[in-house]
Amino acid sequence: MAPFFNKLLLTLSLFSLIVSPQRSLSSSIHDLLRSKGLPAGLLPEEVKSYKFSDNGHLEVFLDAPCLTKYENRVYFESFVTANLTYGSLIGVEGLQQEELFVWLPVKDIIVNDPSSGLILFDIGLAQKQLSRSLFDIPPRCKNENGGGLRNHVRKEKGFEALR
Ligand SMILES: *[C@@H]1O[C@H](CO)[C@@H](O)[C@H](O)[C@H]1NC(C)=O
Repeated sequence: MAPFFNKLLLTLSLFSLIVSPQRSLSSSIHDLLRSKGLPAGLLPEEVKSYKFSDNGHLEVFLDAPCLTKYENRVYFESFVTANLTYGSLIGVEGLQQEELFVWLPVKDIIVNDPSSGLILFDIGLAQKQLSRSLFDIPPRCKNENGGGLRNHVRKEKGFEALR
């Protein structure tokens, strides 16, 4: 009996050695966000893959641009990057938020004080405090064909540049 058990244990531990690296590789972007003290819903459900480098640089790939909503409408491009450190995404590229009909790039997302239940969105002209509970669950992208909004965003950007 005992030798059989030893063998079984050995087999099991070898098995977990082989399996666990794969588990951590395929752990989702939402788990990664949580492990960095950020709510999972900062990125939508429809993330296809991501790369997270040792220096903290995060690259996120979506199947398609994603229009969704927290408090206001937000627009994720199909490629989003940022520097991810504990409690913050700094230098975000590829995310915009609608403010009074104008689309503004979100630059930094910061949790200053976890107990406050607030999240700070730095959108360049202003900093917005949003309730963390808006980000508990990864949002789903609205199934628009993208083109319309994309043009809209481009136009707004052009308009911004003219001012
Ligand atoms: C992001 O991290 C890279 C590598 O550490 C650094 O060169 C870059 O300046 C950082 N960008 C921002 C906006 O902090």
